[in-house]
Amino acid sequence: MHKLGVAVVGVGTLGRRHAENLRSRIPEAQLVAVCDKDRKRSLQVAEELEIERSFGDITEILESKDVQAIVIAAPSMFHAENIEAAASAGKHVFCEKPLALTLPEADRTLTKVRAAGVQLQIGFMRRFDPGYAAAKQRIEAGEIGDPVIFKSVGRDRQPPPLSFFRGGVNGTIFSDAAIHDFDLARWMMNDEVAAVQAFAGVLACPELAQFDDVDAALVNLRFARGGIGNIEAFRKSSYGYDIRTEILGTKGALHVGYLHQTPLQVLTEVSMAHDVVDHWLVRFADAYLNELRDFVRSILAGTPVRVSGEDGRRALAVAVAAEQSFREVRPVTVGAQAQKASFGNA
Ligand SMILES: NC(=O)c1ccc[n+]([C@@H]2O[C@H](COP(=O)([O-])OP(=O)(O)OC[C@H]3O[C@@H](n4cnc5c(N)ncnc54)[C@H](O)[C@@H]3O)[C@@H](O)[C@H]2O)c1
Repeated sequence: MHKLGVAVVGVGTLGRRHAENLRSRIPEAQLVAVCDKDRKRSLQVAEELEIERSFGDITEILESKDVQAIVIAAPSMFHAENIEAAASAGKHVFCEKPLALTLPEADRTLTKVRAAGVQLQIGFMRRFDPGYAAAKQRIEAGEIGDPVIFKSVGRDRQPPPLSFFRGGVNGTIFSDAAIHDFDLARWMMNDEVAAVQAFAGVLACPELAQFDDVDAALVNLRFARGGIGNIEAFRKSSYGYDIRTEILGTKGALHVGYLHQTPLQVLTEVSMAHDVVDHWLVRFADAYLNELRDFVRSILAGTPVRVSGEDGRRALAVAVAAEQSFREVRPVTVGAQAQKASFGNA
């Protein structure tokens, strides 16, 4: 079997999972090298996954003939430059969301990807989650009629560590967290978000105020064909990782998501209890594997990837508009004048 040679750039929490999946769960792929700015980290991950090559900078793998594709899971601020470097060297790219932190950067990157003639897939893994994928199929089959209302909740149990917010390297709640829901909204409603109105604040994590970020946001949406929606992003539910979506159609509705992780309920004289989904690596374990397997298969088959750079750009445009709406306390038309996604202290 011809295998796709892949290298992973940024092997922190998620990049390590991608590397692990490529190494042992995607037979069509050959994990050739890992790379991380933190040289000790890349060495450690290479040792754990029993591969020979580890590097500290993407430039060190660009000349490797046995690397045909690069997976990028470095902090978001470095996505655009890494995609451009990989594409210019003729490598296909899978990049974590967001595509970039600003729209001009996203546009520059997409131009370079097109010029290089390589494929780019963005890591909107929820599209590959069994629940979301089945919901999409049912929408396509017309089971709920025309989708008209989109509602989504995205709650982390606890915010990421403070290091995640430093230097603005990962964007804000809109471009980092709610961007998953902006992508789902477009995909499940079969429509584009035309306008947004966002309300947000630092309500539960005062330590985030120093980064000029917020921990809670509600974004109202108006779609181009008239549909409406609402998205909630919250950094600290305290009780679990709570991801739920409802799509209401003219003939029915779909509810996606669950909170109960282990198939066990404990019943006593006074209560009934069960555990709660705790972390995104657990909730979306299948989705992370499925998205990467799909990427590898698309590249080997020469067929278009299923989440394109343009999808990444459109979701970013909604995030930029939502951020602007919150900052300027007014509704914003998507794509009108919003140019900057990150308003943090970067
Ligand atoms: N799709 C999802 O559900 C999802 C979930 C979490 C994170 N992410 C995205 O994945 C990316 C990484 O997130 P994470 O939680 O794994 O972060 P992390 O901080 O755990 O890991 C980032 C790694 O990148 C390394 N790094 C920093 N700068 C680098 C550079 N210029 N080149 C190479 N490596 C570099 C760091 O040393 C670190 O090991 C972010 O862009 C984030 O938005 C996506």
